[in-house]
Amino acid sequence: MKNTVETFRRQKEQSDKITMLTCYDYSTAKLMDEAGVDSLLVGDSLGMVMLGYPDTLSVTMEDIIHHTKAVSRGASNALVIGDMPFMSYQVSAEQAVENAGRIIKEGRAQAVKLEGGAAVAEQIRAIVKASIPVVAHIGLTPQSVNAFGGFKVQGKSAEAARALIEDARIVEDAGAFAVVIEAIPAQVAEAITKTLRIPTIGIGAGSGCDGQVLVYQDMLDLFGEIKPKFVKVFGDAGAVMRAAFAAYIEETKSGAFPAAEHGFAADIDADVLRELTVGL
Ligand code: KIV
Repeated sequence: MKNTVETFRRQKEQSDKITMLTCYDYSTAKLMDEAGVDSLLVGDSLGMVMLGYPDTLSVTMEDIIHHTKAVSRGASNALVIGDMPFMSYQVSAEQAVENAGRIIKEGRAQAVKLEGGAAVAEQIRAIVKASIPVVAHIGLTPQSVNAFGGFKVQGKSAEAARALIEDARIVEDAGAFAVVIEAIPAQVAEAITKTLRIPTIGIGAGSGCDGQVLVYQDMLDLFGEIKPKFVKVFGDAGAVMRAAFAAYIEETKSGAFPAAEHGFAADIDADVLRELTVGL
């Protein structure tokens, strides 16, 4: 059964933790879906972990739509959320609705995510009015990396925590059905979770949230460049892949691969075969 916004609502009500992973391609989506993850986020983190940019700012609508199409085809049950790239919604509510619509219509996602609190409330309201479910994202919002002066933990002072709680209330009032809270103190995340009726999905926000999200390259140790403190490595796929690549190179160079069982036998008489190769 395909998960929906209603599944998220029920999960919060029943204290059933929501699981979300980022995903960017068909085969990984299938694996995650089969494992039973509740939701797949086609995050603009793809700019860093898939495309090699130093941040998420250069990700385009075309990038997100391309990857969302692939993930949607691989997700039978998981709710697919497409991330709205930098400058695809900040300009106006009209721009936000148009681009959210493309992620749903072309990417076949069931919801979109955008970064910001009070500053994007108008956009959230407009997108929800167009019948598109919205996940908000507050705390360390990577699209604001230049404004923050780096990827820094947010909400550490009482004043900043109060502002975050206010932002959370505003995005809920604007109609978001869930909110991602990134890199904030656990106590502040817990306060937000208790305040809101909609589920909170934490990343670097402690265990008091209604759910968790991780970038899959981080949890599989596939991306060595940035290692946030909040990441737990659940499996060393990086080591498995490196070993397999090395074995392939070694066996190909030595001639051990391909063996007879990896090839096809011709149904051709030996004399004819010899004739075929004469003069080669
Ligand atoms: O882009 C992304 O992957 C995200 C998650 C880290 C929440 O926004």
